[in-house]
Amino acid sequence: MNWPSAAGKRAYVNRMFAAISPNYDLLNRLLSGGRDMAWRRYAVQEAALPRGGWLLDVATGTGDVALEVLRQVPGAHVVGTDFTLEMMRSAQTKAGGCPVSWNGGDALCLPFPDNTFDAAISAFIMRNVVDIPRAFAEQRRVVRPGGRVVCLEICRPTLPVFRTLFNLYFYRLTPIIGGLISGHPEAYIYLPDSLAYLPSPEELVAIMESVGLRQVRYRRMTLGTVALHVGVK
Ligand SMILES: C[S@@+](CC[C@H](N)C(=O)[O-])C[C@H]1O[C@@H](n2cnc3c(N)ncnc32)[C@H](O)[C@@H]1O
Repeated sequence: MNWPSAAGKRAYVNRMFAAISPNYDLLNRLLSGGRDMAWRRYAVQEAALPRGGWLLDVATGTGDVALEVLRQVPGAHVVGTDFTLEMMRSAQTKAGGCPVSWNGGDALCLPFPDNTFDAAISAFIMRNVVDIPRAFAEQRRVVRPGGRVVCLEICRPTLPVFRTLFNLYFYRLTPIIGGLISGHPEAYIYLPDSLAYLPSPEELVAIMESVGLRQVRYRRMTLGTVALHVGVK
């Protein structure tokens, strides 16, 4: 997809997530073959949040990372932020009385002071932002020295045969299944298209280092279709 401007992409992403928010969780479970919650569990483990620590879930969407933090870390203080309020409304409903603070905000200009959090996690957002280095720089800014910045994203598998199967699934089947269930086929054409915009896992390491994160590493999961990056401030 070609964007006439950064503002055009931002507005499109915002509208698109607002439209698909009612079916977002169901489609995540279906399209990931039930793996997406495991990926978020590993992301939360990598945040190494201390008991009672402060965690920022950047682009929290329907809040699955935020709620996973509460499950794993006793007494955690969790803040979820996103610019699509419809997604966070679903998060609030799902959370019931769970103590997450939901904040409207842009990942490229986080509405928090420097050194506020023990860790920040972003899951499946980098394909959607118009400035990836800035998104990481913002997360680094709001995390305290020694705290971690964790990023979960889809990536292209490297095994040649599996890559062909993945392409078939991701580029052909996903738009059909996603379109049928959500009623918004363009959103599930955007999903595979957005991968073209995403740098490789190695390039993401370089971007994270370029904004001052240290000890940056990543691992691939689920036959190399998802990458989990971690850096330290
Ligand atoms: C694929 S969803 C991921 C949601 C959630 N992190 C998860 O694990 O399911 C991407 C989310 O990023 C949000 N988003 C995209 N760009 C953003 C930005 N610049 N600032 C804040 N939120 C953004 C969208 O509104 C959407 O909720």
